[in-house]
Amino acid sequence: MTTDLLNIELRKAEKSRLAEVDFNNLPFGKHFSDHMFVADFVDGQWQNPQVVPFDNFSLSPALSSLHYGQSIFEGMKAYKNEQGEVLMFRPLENFRRMNESAKRMCMTTIPEEIFMGGLETLLRVDADWVPGTAGSSLYIRPYMFATDTFLGVAPSKSYRFCIFTCPVGAYYTKPPKLKVETEYIRSAPGGVGYAKCAGNYGGALYPTLLAQQEGYDQIMWTDAVEHKYIEESGTMNIMFYMNGKLVTPATSDSILKGVTRDSILQIARSWGVEVEERKVSIDEVIQGIEDGTLLEAFGAGTAVVVSPYSVIGYKGKDYMLPEVAEENSLSKRVYKFLNDLRTGRVEDTFGFMYKV
Ligand code: COI
Repeated sequence: MTTDLLNIELRKAEKSRLAEVDFNNLPFGKHFSDHMFVADFVDGQWQNPQVVPFDNFSLSPALSSLHYGQSIFEGMKAYKNEQGEVLMFRPLENFRRMNESAKRMCMTTIPEEIFMGGLETLLRVDADWVPGTAGSSLYIRPYMFATDTFLGVAPSKSYRFCIFTCPVGAYYTKPPKLKVETEYIRSAPGGVGYAKCAGNYGGALYPTLLAQQEGYDQIMWTDAVEHKYIEESGTMNIMFYMNGKLVTPATSDSILKGVTRDSILQIARSWGVEVEERKVSIDEVIQGIEDGTLLEAFGAGTAVVVSPYSVIGYKGKDYMLPEVAEENSLSKRVYKFLNDLRTGRVEDTFGFMYKV
């Protein structure tokens, strides 16, 4: 055992699994890097921060998070620039959002030194796992779950915070087809939609399966009250380029405040693109596709980055979106700019990149 940054204990893997991974063919979320960071909140304080080999946990069958869902996570990414340095994309935004999710789920919050210290130590130890290949990155999964062994329904007093990472390629290998959901809901006013809690994803699986059985890849969620306004998709916020403006649903308590979403809006504004954050009705989107004023519809998220849609299915009819092959389409320009920023090919005037 040795110690590293902020007295984080470090126990290294006896043998790296790096050579087992084909970095030219990286499926999303299947290869896990050699190490993970773990810290426990017990007796009212964070203790025992350590970087250890990626391995199984031993957990009680009565673990409260398994029963009552106090479980939250984040998704973020690290990149290697052309000089071989490792940079994370806006990690402090994920740190802040994780603590907002923690508050909503009645969990303890994570101190910045634990979150950032764990992250930096882990990335230094596993720096060789950060892909340097175009379109690839190191996906980082911080998460926290309740660890009380108690069956009463009450906030847990103990928690485990963990971070592990995976080298990943593209989340979608082709532009996804989205079905506008008008029966099931993801979240409702006053609910937990803005929190990145495990249950939001679990609850979406069945409606998504039904959509997939109809030939779609994902769902475009609409509001819980009228099924009239677009909210977000299962793994991303949603954006439209219509009437010469970048239009996206305003965030609310039922929509996740995406870090990629915010970054794209900042970038677009800096280019002089007019941005509208407001309610976006499905009727105006369909109208825009039909009259040709809607040129692009795309998802924005850590995992998907920028993902143009091919089809929007609504009330049994498929609406085809124009192909965005042209280099000057907004989604292509944003995607390229984000990649250039992340790999150090353009100057980071936004202050988005965080060197490890
Ligand atoms: C992310 O973009 O990090 C997400 O949360 C999507 C993930 C559930 C795959």
